[in-house]
Amino acid sequence: MLKQEVATLLNEQVNKEFFSAYLYLDFANFYESKGLAGFANWYKIQAQEERDHALLFYQYMHNNNLTVTLEAIDKPNVEMKELIDPLKAALEHEKYVTSLIHNLYAAVQKANDFRTTQFLDWFVKEQGEEETTASNLITKMELFGSDPKGLYMLDNELDARVYAAPSLIL
Ligand code: FEO
Repeated sequence: MLKQEVATLLNEQVNKEFFSAYLYLDFANFYESKGLAGFANWYKIQAQEERDHALLFYQYMHNNNLTVTLEAIDKPNVEMKELIDPLKAALEHEKYVTSLIHNLYAAVQKANDFRTTQFLDWFVKEQGEEETTASNLITKMELFGSDPKGLYMLDNELDARVYAAPSLIL
């Protein structure tokens, strides 16, 4: 049996991951409206990945006989004016998600919950990768985004991203 505190945090993470998906879909929504289909593609796939994360937490809870409660998902709240705004917001958001995963990790360690520790190991690594990717996108945008040709090529690069299912299998 997992401890109640861990169960509560896992359930909250289901909601947070669905919110991340909704947030990134809103970023895609912004870029669609600007005619940048590649950036939109990037964030639509990012949204799919976040939904996958939510479902991994959901399934892990069910596999451990925990009750999942689906709560309301907040409205995306990022004000987007400049093309770089979503990229910067994405990095801040991923840092926030990392802090949530780390809090959860600390709680399961305190509870001597080795099973959940192992489950969360994948997310700790994933967050490191997500932050690096988000940071690299900002760098590219700062370097090339103000030049129309550079922006066009960056949009094409992001358009090439294809969805891949998560490497973590439960
Ligand atoms: Fe589910 Fe981008 O962290």
